[in-house]
Amino acid sequence: MKEKNNDFFVVTKRSPSNIAIVKYWGKHGNQLPNNPSLSFTLSRCYTETKITCERSGNEGMDFYFEGKENVAFKDKIVKFLADNAQYFGFLKGLNLKIESSNSFPHSSGIASSASSMSALIMCLLEIEKIVNGDDTSIDLCKASFLSRLASGSASRSVYPVMALWGETPSVLGSSDEFAVSVENMVATVFKTYHDSILIVSSKEKKVSSRAGHSLMNGHPEAAARYEEARRNTEVLLQALQRGDVAAFIEIAESEALRLHELMRSSNPPFDLMEPATMKIINAVRDYRAATNIPLCFTLDAGPNVHLLYSDSVADKVVDFIKKDLVGYCVDNKWIDDIVG
Ligand code: PMV
Repeated sequence: MKEKNNDFFVVTKRSPSNIAIVKYWGKHGNQLPNNPSLSFTLSRCYTETKITCERSGNEGMDFYFEGKENVAFKDKIVKFLADNAQYFGFLKGLNLKIESSNSFPHSSGIASSASSMSALIMCLLEIEKIVNGDDTSIDLCKASFLSRLASGSASRSVYPVMALWGETPSVLGSSDEFAVSVENMVATVFKTYHDSILIVSSKEKKVSSRAGHSLMNGHPEAAARYEEARRNTEVLLQALQRGDVAAFIEIAESEALRLHELMRSSNPPFDLMEPATMKIINAVRDYRAATNIPLCFTLDAGPNVHLLYSDSVADKVVDFIKKDLVGYCVDNKWIDDIVG
């Protein structure tokens, strides 16, 4: 979306959050992953960013998050643009007012770097097109590449449904430099998936993902973990193609628990789970065993539990959430998202 006159123009972009099934945890070089990762793109949790550009000749930037000036975030963006200046020459002579907001509450503890960084990059690429008088559509591969430089998991948010970031043998064109869409490799059942996010804590993360990634350097289980994630990526891609929900569940849950085990066995160790996290996980497993309904969970780098299930069982799962699980959530809060 854009408005334009000679002195200023406005671009607005929306970009979603994503939830990894095979997790990215450990990196090297300039934001390169130590193993491939695969994620569902969400649709209701997103960031919307608006940039007002003034051709004033006075370069500068102001950043507003949810209506309030945020200098810490501005400094982060200024540093990112300076570190990667070779890609952003088109910003010369522009004054930027960046206004960003999330569709999900700030206190929900949902990591927003994937949606916020990819929304920012989409806006910047729109600005590049306006500056260059280019009316073709944004190159998503380039958007993914630049989003990766800003925040690894953001590389996957530029594609709908499912994205793969990192080189893996069975996907021609897959790369550590950017994510690719795997939408056309996914059976219909997975395209209907829900991700119900149970908000167990709304506190800020105790350990940033940047610090968590760096603790994988020298981690005694690092080599075995990267090998396992490579294998899981291949097995999951096949399961997604076959529509094999049982194989999907096995990988989703083992990846989630492995991520948190890696944190607990880091030096120094840390633990992002809350008591309610394990209670929900156990309740989900008991429910699945008792009903045969293929409901499973995954976790991000935090205590909130993401429940994954197909649309065909959504009514039953929502009843289960309302009856047995909301009691574990902060202020009974949960977010009903869907793959999109
Ligand atoms: O993109 P980062 O640096 O915030 O790392 C994200 C790491 C996880 O969310 C835990 C896993 C993933 O692949 O999204």
